[in-house]
Amino acid sequence: MARRRDWVALSKPPLFALCLLPLVLLAWNAAQGTLGPDPVAQLEHRSGDWALRLLLATLAVTPLRRVTGVSKLVRYRRLLGLFAFFYVCVHMGIYLVIDLGGFWSQIFAEIARKPYITVGFTAWLLLIPLALTSTKGMMRRLGRRWQQMHRIVYLIPLLGVLHYAWMVKSGNAIANREPLYYGAAFAALMLWRIPWARLRDGLRALRAGTAAAARCPDPAARR
Ligand code: HEM
Repeated sequence: MARRRDWVALSKPPLFALCLLPLVLLAWNAAQGTLGPDPVAQLEHRSGDWALRLLLATLAVTPLRRVTGVSKLVRYRRLLGLFAFFYVCVHMGIYLVIDLGGFWSQIFAEIARKPYITVGFTAWLLLIPLALTSTKGMMRRLGRRWQQMHRIVYLIPLLGVLHYAWMVKSGNAIANREPLYYGAAFAALMLWRIPWARLRDGLRALRAGTAAAARCPDPAARR
């Protein structure tokens, strides 16, 4: 019998290439000198945008899986998450090497002085343990603790949006609505995760219990 082709495994290399494409384009534009009047800001902005997009894409895997009923989609999550981490590292690397000109110790002064850097840096720190424990082996070894630990993944895009919104607010970027759009996408992905049906059933049960207790004349029996 012919073995069924594993389309997730087959589609991973093109997805890998697709995730790498923004960096290739960025490097190409930098080499061609077509990044506009402020190339360093462009490098920071475009790498930051892709970091945030990929973080949100990682969060979108579970809803997409449930909506389509294709549970195999979960196998894309690690690739997307690791690429998000990769783009955050590139983004921070550009900031440290090009923006701060290699005066890396300045990062501590910047963290203390600029709240948006503090928030971005915190998000980066939180991503490290997630990236390091993303392998199947670590998943098996950590068991339940793996799941508990990987819940931080919900906090990181929130910090990313906050980092961007703060930056716009402090006038470091052209005032734009983009952080709002990212924030709305994040909110939608989180709202989707609320188990509405279970919440509704719980509330109904609570209301039914309260009504029954109110009808009961014997206070001792209510306990
Ligand atoms: C999860 C972590 C992070 C995410 C998702 C993120 C995302 C972003 C985004 C979306 C932007 C704005 C892009 C635009 O204007 O289109 C940005 C800008 C920026 N980020 Fe981050 N970032 C993160 C961490 C960091 C870290 C760790 C640093 C440095 C220590 C950093 C430094 C900057 C700087 C310097 C800018 C540009 C500010 C300016 O325009 O002057 N970011 N980031």
